[in-house]
Amino acid sequence: MAAASTLLYGSVLAGLFTSALAQSEYGQCGGVNWTGGTTCPDGWVCTSMNPYYSQCLESTSTAPSTTPTTIPTTSTAPTTTASSTSTLTGIAASAPTIGPSHDVGKTPALGWNSWNAYGCNINEDKILAAANQFISLGLAKAGYQYINIDDCWSVMTRNASTGRIIPDPAKFPDGISGVASQVHALGLKFGIYSDAGTATCAGFPGSLGNEELDATTFAEWGVDYLKYDNCNVPANWTDASTPPDGDWYNSNSAIRYRQMTAAMNETGRPFQFNLCIWGNANVWDWGARVGHSWRMSGDSSASWSYITSIITTNVQHLDSIDFYSHNDMDMMEIGNGDLTIQEQRTHFAAWAFLKSPILLGTDLGQLNTTQLAIITNAELLAFHQDTTVGTPARPFAPTPSAPTTSPPQFYSGTSAKGTHVFIVNTGNATSKTFDFANVPGLGSGSYKVHDMWTGKDVGTFATSYTTTVDTHDTAAFLVTAA
Ligand code: GAL
Repeated sequence: MAAASTLLYGSVLAGLFTSALAQSEYGQCGGVNWTGGTTCPDGWVCTSMNPYYSQCLESTSTAPSTTPTTIPTTSTAPTTTASSTSTLTGIAASAPTIGPSHDVGKTPALGWNSWNAYGCNINEDKILAAANQFISLGLAKAGYQYINIDDCWSVMTRNASTGRIIPDPAKFPDGISGVASQVHALGLKFGIYSDAGTATCAGFPGSLGNEELDATTFAEWGVDYLKYDNCNVPANWTDASTPPDGDWYNSNSAIRYRQMTAAMNETGRPFQFNLCIWGNANVWDWGARVGHSWRMSGDSSASWSYITSIITTNVQHLDSIDFYSHNDMDMMEIGNGDLTIQEQRTHFAAWAFLKSPILLGTDLGQLNTTQLAIITNAELLAFHQDTTVGTPARPFAPTPSAPTTSPPQFYSGTSAKGTHVFIVNTGNATSKTFDFANVPGLGSGSYKVHDMWTGKDVGTFATSYTTTVDTHDTAAFLVTAA
C-alpha cells in the first residue's frame, strides 16, 4: 500500500515536473549551453536544428527543407569594410561587404518583442497594446523605442505572382504596414522578424535567396528593425569547422547575414539589424561589420541559471562591445516565470552594464510597480544609453586577495558621469567590499558613493566601501572624487 501510494505520488510528481518544464511550441529545447527545459508539449517533438539549437516542432511537421537555395547575384553595394579577398574563392570572393547603417543603433536597442510574451499567439491588438503601454506606463519617456513582432506574423506561402511574404490577415487585418504606421503615430519605432534560411523557426517563409525582395517589402511597410534568425539553413550553406581565410566573416553563416545587410542598404532606409545567430560562427568577431547586435546564445529562460550562464558567456567577449556593436544577451524575462525581485534587478542591471539590447518580453499590463521601477531606472538606463562612452563595464578584482568567481561579481565601467561599480551577488555572503585603489580609473583616497538604484548619495568613504547585497541581487554605484 505504502509502495503503491509512493508510486502514485511519484508519477503525479513526474507529471507535474514534465509539464512545468515543457517548452512552448517552437520554443528552444536543447543545444550547446542550453540550460532550460528539454521537453515539449504533447504532440510536439524536440528536434535538433544544429548543435546549437533544438526546438519543439509538431511531430507531424515535415523535416526542415535542405533544398539548395539560389544564391542572389545582386548585392553590389559599395564596400565600406573591405576584408582581404586575395585568397577567397566561391561565394566568399563575391559576397557583399557593405556594413550596417550608422544612422541608427549607436547605443543598444531599447524596446519590446512579442516572442517571450506570446510565442506564435500574436495579433495586431497585442502588438498595439504594447505600443500604447509604452506611452501609458512611461516606458517611452524612459527611452524605450522599438515595438518588435517576432516569428509567426505571415501566412505559410509567398504570393505566387509577386513572391512577396503575405502578412496573416487573421492576425494582422491592417497588414504589417498598418501596424507600423500606428506604432509610428505614437512616436515609436517598429521591428519585424525574418530568417537567414528557407523558413523561420516556426516554418513560415524565410528570406534566404529573397533578401532584396523582402528588404524592399519591409522598407515599404516602414520597418525600422529586423531580427534575423538562423533556422532551416540549406545543406549547401553550412560551414566547415574552419572558415575561409581563417576569418569567420567569410563563413557561409556570415555571408547569409551579409546578403541581408546589403539588401537593406539598397533600400535607402536605415534599419537596425539584429543577427539572431545564437553565438555561432564566432559572431562576436565580425558582427559589427554586418549588424548592430548579435545573439550570444540560444533562447533565454526565466531562470537564475540562464542569467548567470549568459553573463559568463558574455564576459569572455567584452572587446566586441562599443557604439553600433552589441552582444545580445537575448530578450528580457522580467514579468515571466518566478524570478525573485533580486534576480529581476540583476537581469536588468547586467543587461544594462554589459550594454545588451533590452527588449522587454512580457505582457506589459501585468507588470507591478516594483517591476516597472526596475525597468525604468533612470540611472541604469543612462549608463546603457550613454552617448559618450560605448564600452561596457568589465570585471575587476575588488581587493588584492579577492577570489575569482564565475561569473565575476564585481564590475566597473565609465559613463559621462564618471566611474561606476556594479556588484552581482551570485553567492551566499551578503557583505561586499571593494577598495577604491582596485577600481580601474580610481586610486587610493576618499570617494563619494552614490546609489544608482535609489538615486541618492550614500556618503563619503576613505580607502574602501562595504555594502550589503542580497542573494542574487545587484548593487549599482557611481563613485566620484570626494
Ligand atoms: C528562435 C529565436 C527566438 C525566437 C524563435 C522564433 O530561433 O532564438 O528568439 O525568435 O526562434 O521561432
